[in-house]
Amino acid sequence: MASASYFSVSLSCKGQSVTLENSFTTSATGEELYQQTRQAFGFAVEDEIKLLYKGKKLQNDSTTLVFSTIPKKLPKIMVMATSNATVQKIAEKTSDPLLRGFEDDDEKKKKKKQQEASIWGTFGQDKNYKFVKFEACTWQSFGHRPTESTPHAFAAQRLLEQLATDPGIVAIMKERELVVNTLGEMDPIDDRLMQAKQHHGGCLLGYNTNHGLRIDIKLRTEDLQGFRPYPELASTLIHELSHNWVGDHNLLFWTNHGQMRAEYLYHHIYMTSVVKGKTTAELAGLSNMITKDTIFPFIMQELAKDMQQHGLHPNMIQAPIQQRCQELENQYLQATGQRLGGTTTADSFNSEDASAARERMLEAAERRRQQQDKKS
Ligand code: NI
Repeated sequence: MASASYFSVSLSCKGQSVTLENSFTTSATGEELYQQTRQAFGFAVEDEIKLLYKGKKLQNDSTTLVFSTIPKKLPKIMVMATSNATVQKIAEKTSDPLLRGFEDDDEKKKKKKQQEASIWGTFGQDKNYKFVKFEACTWQSFGHRPTESTPHAFAAQRLLEQLATDPGIVAIMKERELVVNTLGEMDPIDDRLMQAKQHHGGCLLGYNTNHGLRIDIKLRTEDLQGFRPYPELASTLIHELSHNWVGDHNLLFWTNHGQMRAEYLYHHIYMTSVVKGKTTAELAGLSNMITKDTIFPFIMQELAKDMQQHGLHPNMIQAPIQQRCQELENQYLQATGQRLGGTTTADSFNSEDASAARERMLEAAERRRQQQDKKS
């Protein structure tokens, strides 16, 4: 609407100020303000910032509105940045009072560089269903010294971003309409946390806080010399995502987990997108493990191993997982323009039924979760 009222916001950081001229409305979210601030000052991805307004920290999320009414005076927002963060763009930006339209050449180059740096090429996260931010552990947090040979926090950060943009993970996030606020690196040597997790019979390779508000993954190997193999990391992430519905490691949990594994693997094996001469399945380290024909037995084998630790066996949940596999196979064959196999179409399988069954299962899981919440 033409009557939308724009207003300006002043930002100051490390003694320098910049005004975002007429770029805000009352519908601006915390997330947008954080993004604009990062761009205005040219912070690097790994720099952490906090915005303070009238002494309060502004939330960096896509649901909180920053200003409920148009401010009468120019709002002054204080930007706190980690001590090693450097303000890069302030000089060139102040010469240009209009900081709208950040898509300048520099920004485009930066984006292009990021895309080149991603192993998935131009594949990115979905616009709506995604991980909002990433947090690697810094060496201070787990006590190693920078001279030691464990990978740098930058590398951990990139690995988290790689997981979030993995086309198989993106497919799951979209399919299940998930938004995770933070994907973090689990502190590799926090014994206290490990003990707590062991006590709950839980996961040692990751954890899920508040049904997916935050997910942390153990990225480094036990000796901290490197990262765990990529296929394992992706599997751990899927495990943690499936805790969004079911907290316990019960049959319902493993059914959901197995179905999500199917969604991940089918996407990689069937959507044969090629990045710099390699398929995404190769890039995800899957090409030597599975083929189109072995996805289902592969998942069952994996489940047998994982479930054993919890005294369970996947025999009882074979049917719903197989059904999901068939559903996905049909879906991808259609999507890739291939003909459906003769026997899997009408009689043995009905895609709507499967979908409805899955819905019902997830609803049941949700009800259970709510009941558990009430109890605890
Ligand atoms: Ni778990």
